[in-house]
Amino acid sequence: MTSLSTGQDFQRYVPIVGDISAKNPLAYRATRGVVEVVNAVQMAVAESYINGLEVPDSVLRSLFNTCMPVIFKHFPSLLAPYEWVLGETDHLAEGSKELMKIQYDLPQGMLNRMIGDWKVIYPKYSMGLWEKGAVDLEQSQMHMIDDMIEKLEIQDGDNILDFGCGWGCVPNYILSKFPNVRFTGLNLSHEQCEYMRQKMQDPESYLSSGRFTLVEGDLNEVQFEEKFDKIVSVGVFCHVGNLTNAFKKLASFLKPEGKFFLHIITVRTPNNISSVFTHKYIFPHGRYWSFDTVPTFNKDFKTIDRWYLNGTNYHQTFEAWLKNFDDSYDEVKNLGYGIDPAKFRRIWRFYLIWLGSNFACCDGEINGNGQFLMVHNN
Ligand SMILES: C[S@@+](CC[C@H](N)C(=O)[O-])C[C@H]1O[C@@H](n2cnc3c(N)ncnc32)[C@H](O)[C@@H]1O
Repeated sequence: MTSLSTGQDFQRYVPIVGDISAKNPLAYRATRGVVEVVNAVQMAVAESYINGLEVPDSVLRSLFNTCMPVIFKHFPSLLAPYEWVLGETDHLAEGSKELMKIQYDLPQGMLNRMIGDWKVIYPKYSMGLWEKGAVDLEQSQMHMIDDMIEKLEIQDGDNILDFGCGWGCVPNYILSKFPNVRFTGLNLSHEQCEYMRQKMQDPESYLSSGRFTLVEGDLNEVQFEEKFDKIVSVGVFCHVGNLTNAFKKLASFLKPEGKFFLHIITVRTPNNISSVFTHKYIFPHGRYWSFDTVPTFNKDFKTIDRWYLNGTNYHQTFEAWLKNFDDSYDEVKNLGYGIDPAKFRRIWRFYLIWLGSNFACCDGEINGNGQFLMVHNN
């Protein structure tokens, strides 16, 4: 027997280890059974902390730093808490209303302070690029957008759609660099759209230049009359449940020679991942797509280039957000989160420490960000 077939047999018959999609039905079911146990343990740890168990950050961090590298490397199937995480589901964008309530329409005073709000760099809720020498969060976000401008080859005069534009940070920064670029920003978050509406009235903002159009709406329903030269989407596709249909829809918004730049949290494991904690408290129905499988969903697009960005960049970003969150907590604790502020604080601290640690583990080589440059598939 060759070592390859021994390896394949091992994957096929032995539960938990390696690639879950390679398992025979029995090993698959056994793996899913173990996942239930892992889910229960994870939720017990998270909810003990959320409900007031006093644990120093250093203990939480060392727990995550010890367990997660082993799980990421050898038992990635344990990170798929629900069946739906493993593949595509019906909706383009999943659970949008619940997601807005739990996450994006939270009091902006809290979110803006946590992720930072500067003159040109508006709150940007996605990874900063630190590896090119950024000295602070603002500069890391500038470097990240500069990186996108270069890879997408943005030209002055381009008409660009930003799908899931957040607070309008990417459009504002790019409009500041290119006097003839036009942007359309799509976002379902009413609160974030209100932020941009104010900026559209502010003469100091590039969103007021007449070159920015805001659409408050859901990717599931939105349609555009015009076709765009380029589309960008940063940090949004963890909320997309069906890549095939999302790509089909975005391809229909793009000119024949247009380009789509997708930037997402991703994992270099055989399966997609998520967590019971984030599903319940932070990003309902969110999942992190497996880096290698994203291009396999290309029917209407083809991927012409792709990049893996090391997770330590996101670890540093999360550390900066955690510090901002802690520093501003006294100012923002009474903004109204729909739950006891102390509990809210613990949920968010757990989230920031948990995800930040995951990005750092295995030297950032497994859980990082992926960028995919796509064109029409014809
Ligand atoms: C993680 S944030 C990233 C925002 C922005 N791209 C950035 O880098 O700062 C995800 C954004 O996607 C938006 N979003 C999520 N689901 C959406 C949907 N179904 N339709 C439109 N926007 C959506 C959220 O409101 C939020 O602004």
